[in-house]
Amino acid sequence: MSISSRAINPISLNPKLLSMPGFSERQILEHFNVLYKGYVNKINEIREKLQFAIRQEANATYSEYRGLKKGETFAMDGVILHELYFENLGGFGGMPEGSLLRRIENDFGSFNDWLQDFRAAGMAARGWVVLAFNPRDRRIHNYLQDAHDQGVIINTAALLVLDVYEHAYFIDYGTRKAEYITAFIQNIDWSAAERRWEKLKTQPDPS
Ligand SMILES: [Fe+2]
Repeated sequence: MSISSRAINPISLNPKLLSMPGFSERQILEHFNVLYKGYVNKINEIREKLQFAIRQEANATYSEYRGLKKGETFAMDGVILHELYFENLGGFGGMPEGSLLRRIENDFGSFNDWLQDFRAAGMAARGWVVLAFNPRDRRIHNYLQDAHDQGVIINTAALLVLDVYEHAYFIDYGTRKAEYITAFIQNIDWSAAERRWEKLKTQPDPS
């Protein structure tokens, strides 16, 4: 298989994201076209260079191979997290429906208790908040990531993703992070999270 056929292609920008209340067109376009597509380009570049990396000189202090492998994780997580983020935006906020709502109520006490924790995680995180199902305890959690490749819990399944890097809101909100989180919550497309949740039920149960 040639490298070109294995290249990662970016997702398309949902046009609804350009007219969301609380988000300027420029904020979304800079985030999507420059940052997200930048990670797509980098993972493709890294994959190509890995083909020719000198593995005999691999070293944990510094080596070309180490740099590429570290970059591979960072860029790939950057791609996936941004795709989940953009795909769960463009809705009308509110609450999820069906079994996802029941699961949130079961694991957090109530939807508002979940929301309060999600906001707090957003204020505390330097990179991401990921609402995810953990098959180890069979519960959902608001996990905090300080970078694309820091804080990922192995084997969990992401349901809802919030980007809290400053680049996600600085054009529109400056340092007013809490206002950005409110705008994000008001534009969640819960149907994306519901689809991810339903998809989990069709996969083999690892536990
Ligand atoms: Fe981002």
